[in-house]
Amino acid sequence: MGLTRVPGLLFGGDYNPEQWPEEVWEEDVRLMARAGVNIVTVGVFSWSRLEPAPGVHDFGWLDRILDLLHAHGIAADLATATATPPPWLVRRHPEMLPVDAAGTRLEFGSRQGYCPSSPVFRDATVRLARAMAERYRDHPALVMWHVGNEYADHTAECFCEESARDFRRWLERRYGTLDGLNSAWGTSCWGQHYTDWAQLAPPRKAPGPVNPTQVLDWRRFSSDALLACFEAERRVLKEVTPGIPVTTNFMSILHHLDYWKWAAAEDVVSDDAYPDPADPRAGVKAALSYDLMRSLKRQPWLLLESAPSAVSWREVNVPKEPGTMRLHSLQAVAHGSDGVMFFQWRQARYGPEKFHSAMLPHGGTDTRQWRETLALGADVRRLAEVAGSTTSAEVALVLDWESWWGLEAPESLPSNRLRLHALLLSWYAPLHARGIAVDLTPPDRDLSGYKVVIAPNLYLCTAEQAAALAAFPGRLVVGPFSGVVDAADHVHEGGAPGPLRELLGLRTEEFWPIPDGLTQEVVTADGTRLVARTWSEWLEVDDAQVVARYCGGPLDGRPAITRRGRATYLGCLPEDVAPVLDEVLDAAGVTGVTGPDLPEGVEACRRGDLLFLLNHGAAAATVPLPASGTDLLTGRHLHGSVDIAPRDAVVLKH
Ligand code: GLA
Repeated sequence: MGLTRVPGLLFGGDYNPEQWPEEVWEEDVRLMARAGVNIVTVGVFSWSRLEPAPGVHDFGWLDRILDLLHAHGIAADLATATATPPPWLVRRHPEMLPVDAAGTRLEFGSRQGYCPSSPVFRDATVRLARAMAERYRDHPALVMWHVGNEYADHTAECFCEESARDFRRWLERRYGTLDGLNSAWGTSCWGQHYTDWAQLAPPRKAPGPVNPTQVLDWRRFSSDALLACFEAERRVLKEVTPGIPVTTNFMSILHHLDYWKWAAAEDVVSDDAYPDPADPRAGVKAALSYDLMRSLKRQPWLLLESAPSAVSWREVNVPKEPGTMRLHSLQAVAHGSDGVMFFQWRQARYGPEKFHSAMLPHGGTDTRQWRETLALGADVRRLAEVAGSTTSAEVALVLDWESWWGLEAPESLPSNRLRLHALLLSWYAPLHARGIAVDLTPPDRDLSGYKVVIAPNLYLCTAEQAAALAAFPGRLVVGPFSGVVDAADHVHEGGAPGPLRELLGLRTEEFWPIPDGLTQEVVTADGTRLVARTWSEWLEVDDAQVVARYCGGPLDGRPAITRRGRATYLGCLPEDVAPVLDEVLDAAGVTGVTGPDLPEGVEACRRGDLLFLLNHGAAAATVPLPASGTDLLTGRHLHGSVDIAPRDAVVLKH
């Protein structure tokens, strides 16, 4: 079963026909059909065109484009068009524009110019979503709803008075009483005791560090406030068109939104991914975010937007070399995407994104970009049977948004250098290099299907989460600065690792961050030397084996890495975690999909009964094959091993 009723993999992109005279539309759909495009996202920023005056709708142009698309066999991921409220609405209700932490109201003239808590905004979006759903409920092109666009991209939070009121309501629901709130927020510190709900406000710019629990609750609230916007539209869509799946495009591993919660409200998880061609680690970073997308609902997801070549929003926007668009696209499919879609179909001639690449560039059809678009369309058709297939992983990485928010709260931690994305990558990269499939998981989801669970950091860890980890029967790895605080950001009684203390058999007596640029040597029991940066801890072991000790420096001779039964703890951050990881993988009997001989730069992923081999390296690579089979991309029969050129790929069916 695919994500939509379109058979096979989806192929297409954002299409903004309102930016072009209608004469161009005929050429668009003709070229789309030639490239094998079977779906486009339409109407994302069309509110001001679809509703030019209050309650006055102009659907004519959208009717015509949807009819035209359908006549050429192209389906629509139809936006509810609520990503940018129109000027008339904003001018009537200037209070709906977002306000930053310093109290500056942001102007109209870009996109996402709304306060997520604004009732004016929410009501208007729901009315438009209803009008769209009622108009297009029976249109044969409609296969998916696209609500909003990249929530939290420009407006992740708003500090206005309306948001303050909404925040107070949210706090009342969470705490019930002011006593509850005062105690959770620890307002005895720095004299912040509240005596009336009306005194509560967002964590606006203040003379000094703002109460960290207030900030944590603000992050929870801000994610929920945007989710409420999505859910309000979704309810209407489900009422009017219950059979049409609803999505909103995620932004890979995004700090602001708790995607576990968000994904539960979606029918289809979709993602916008823009690996930087200038970043040598782009491939592994993309793989990590794709594995998150696959894990969110444990089902296929959709790469809804990606760049055919350069983007337009980095300081320097480097294009993709020939072959890279294909490689990046196949990578997303290998990691569970049921399609390959781009921003955007036709390159804009005006606006902030006129230099952003597109499937059909300014230069038209006699361009390398267009030739690569055509070739990719053909490859996507060759992989039609991939749609719907899944991946099963034996290893999971723990990702918890609340803990992430606590870890990256500025101004109140022993060090601001612990960044969750980097910590996740430090474990993910060696797993990826070994061809080992990885899921992401919240700490308290059912973990019993995994052999290895790694929590690179779990700063905020509740007793329930600790119990779920303790009940996990496989090999557990816990990274430093974990089990430090509870859900209110209060340090656990007795200090870290709090509720993990018994499981790990130790306590952290002192945090010992390492100054920038310095390193700390760590030596394992078998003499392997590791270099740690950024962080170390003074550990007191109650009942655990010492796997490695600090060598030199202020913690010389003290335990750095420990093991109790199946649980390993690291009080430090080795630059290379491979020696620790390999020992755990061996003990758990986890190996990569192609065995131990995967050449550097080659990514190996299994999806259903297909093996994807992707060469991200600069040199040709010879990859041993676990079994003989047929390469779906070329039709070649392969056995023994296969040579893969740089930026080339093999999809082996056996
Ligand atoms: C995201 C947005 C698009 C566009 C692209 C540019 O995907 O959703 O509207 O701005 O970024 O890369």
